[in-house]
Amino acid sequence: MSDTQKTWGGRFAEPTDAFVARLNASVGFDRRLYREDIAGSRAHAAMLAGQGILSAEDHAAIERGLDQVLAEIEAGDFTWDAALEDVHMNIEARLTALVGEAGKRLHTARSRNDQVATDLRLWLRRFIDETLPVVDRLQDALLDLAERDGHAILPGYTHLQRAQPILLAHHLLAYVEMLERDRGRLVDCRRRLDESPLGAAALAGTPFPIDRRHSARALGFAGPMANSLDAVADRDFAVEFTSAAALCMVHLSRFAEELVVWSSQEFGFVELGDAFATGSSIMPQKKNPDIPELVRGKTGRVFGDLVALLTVLKGLPLAYNKDLQEDKEALFDAADTLRDCLEATARLLPGLTVRADRMRAACDAGFVTATDVADYLAAKGVPFREAHHVVGRLVAWCIVEGRTLPSLSAAEFRTFHEAFADDVCAAVTVEASVAARKSEGGTAPDRVRAALAAARARLQARRAA
Ligand code: ARG
Repeated sequence: MSDTQKTWGGRFAEPTDAFVARLNASVGFDRRLYREDIAGSRAHAAMLAGQGILSAEDHAAIERGLDQVLAEIEAGDFTWDAALEDVHMNIEARLTALVGEAGKRLHTARSRNDQVATDLRLWLRRFIDETLPVVDRLQDALLDLAERDGHAILPGYTHLQRAQPILLAHHLLAYVEMLERDRGRLVDCRRRLDESPLGAAALAGTPFPIDRRHSARALGFAGPMANSLDAVADRDFAVEFTSAAALCMVHLSRFAEELVVWSSQEFGFVELGDAFATGSSIMPQKKNPDIPELVRGKTGRVFGDLVALLTVLKGLPLAYNKDLQEDKEALFDAADTLRDCLEATARLLPGLTVRADRMRAACDAGFVTATDVADYLAAKGVPFREAHHVVGRLVAWCIVEGRTLPSLSAAEFRTFHEAFADDVCAAVTVEASVAARKSEGGTAPDRVRAALAAARARLQARRAA
């Protein structure tokens, strides 16, 4: 196409430099907004027609043309032209080629500035709507695993040192809670982004007698944005989403790290299904946790996307600036990465083999009931600080002698303090330790059973709503 044919070609005598055209073009990545762009144009055209700004014939021609453009794009028959810069001008040019004059009238009382802001909000709203069920599916998968193997007892860790025994279900439910907050942040982001920039035009509004409520309603927005400058300059929604995505990735990467560690030979707590692990090209014995590693690694890109967006916006004067074109790749990348990682984690869980025996052995060898032994003494009237010291000496002795706490007899306990009675061995088992932690939010089986049921019910209520 020649430059004077460009939508903005009127003012220009010289053609755009080819390098500039390539750098300037966004159609390579913003074409994925085509559905939203067409929906926005339909809403705008219907509003213009309703207000008598566009004739009924022109409106009908635009509708017909947009139907065809949409069909061509979805059939893969549409020719995207980088010389036309972006998705908006590609679609408008094709529309005009198809229906003539009417296509040229579509841009009345509109600018690409309010158009792109509208498209992006619509796109993100749909993305969130499609992603919330993926979060739910991951919660389901965690709950399924908790129900299947959650009775296994493993050491809970602090400082990555074996600390106190916990139920596997309790551990998994911690991630269900994290995801619930992630979900809440996405819902919150969706609620705030649900306003229409359309009709802000370039930045100041328009002299045409438009009805912004009409087009906002047609697009399912709660209403129009209040300020035209804010409408075209704001990308808070992209930052909010990417920040929620980054935090969700933090959670996924923590779980991924645990899967990596747990599937090592040193831990051996779980084995990944063959479909979710890979081998080494040189070491025949290897089964590598590539998928959790990728989830862990991809977390960095989403952080990068967030910092990129914040940096693009920082110090940007009102209203629209071309810098804002840089919002899309970061937003799309954060969105795609989040969705893939949620999906990958949900899919890998059913194939996970839990090695309850290895978890149990780690508890037995790990002195995880030491607190319970000290609590036992404290309950017999020994001041807790003294009890703590006694058990410290006992553990040190076990380490030297190569003994574990469950292997000790009552008589052996007694050599460290006379308050140890015959009931001590039964009182300080791993099961007793877990069962004793009955406080709200604790790992006792009854509490965990109730927490599991509550999490299931929460998901069910959501699906029924
Ligand atoms: N491709 C542009 C973007 O993504 C669309 C808006 C262009 N507006 C303008 N005044 N040049 O931001």
